[in-house]
Amino acid sequence: MMNMKLIGTLTCIWLVMAIAATAQNPVLDTAGQPLRRGLQYYIKPAITDNGGRFTLISRNDSCPLYPGQENFSGGNGAPVTFAPFVRGENVVRETKNFKVRFDVFTICLQSTTWRVGQEDPETGRRLIETGDNGGFGNYFYIRRGKVENTYEIRWCPAELCPTCRFRCGDVGALVENDKRLLALDGSVLPVVFERA
Ligand SMILES: *[C@@H]1O[C@H](CO)[C@@H](O)[C@H](O)[C@H]1NC(C)=O
Ligand SMILES: *[C@@H]1O[C@H](CO)[C@@H](O)[C@H](O)[C@H]1NC(C)=O
Repeated sequence: MMNMKLIGTLTCIWLVMAIAATAQNPVLDTAGQPLRRGLQYYIKPAITDNGGRFTLISRNDSCPLYPGQENFSGGNGAPVTFAPFVRGENVVRETKNFKVRFDVFTICLQSTTWRVGQEDPETGRRLIETGDNGGFGNYFYIRRGKVENTYEIRWCPAELCPTCRFRCGDVGALVENDKRLLALDGSVLPVVFERA
């Protein structure tokens, strides 16, 4: 009898712990609502004078397109959608992995899903590219920024492989030929999410 009771209690404690461990805070949009799977959001710099909304950019008037930013805060931008790694999870939570893609039509063959690229020998930075091979390179997460109500996007597929040692990095801007591309290995660009 005692043993059954003890097992029951332990199971209960374990359940509570398991729930607490998975219940990370949701990432909130500019209206204070949790970011949800499949809905469209514009990603915007949290502070002005840091370029405009996130959009797809051609580096040299050909495919593939690259995730980047509008030059000015007035630009249209392109909305993104998030797909959390955990099946059945419909909310984007802090430090939880997801795939993110621009929800727009392009003439390029490549998927519009973000993927981390190889280190550029010239800049020493890894550009964010487009393409989906379902690998670690496609998984990002969002964490809280240093300033309240701002966020940082980070490439780090830790949830997919907790024992792997990734060279994780924060997403920031890299200006190339007056175009604002997204890249790791520089200063982070604090952002907010606005429902499209
Ligand atoms: C444009 O970029 C693509 C992909 O990066 C590359 O294959 C192509 O050679 C580039 N074209 C020019 C003219 O630089
Ligand atoms: C920003 O300006 C550069 C230089 O004029 C241009 O090539 C680029 O396409 C512009 N970016 C966007 C997103 O319009």
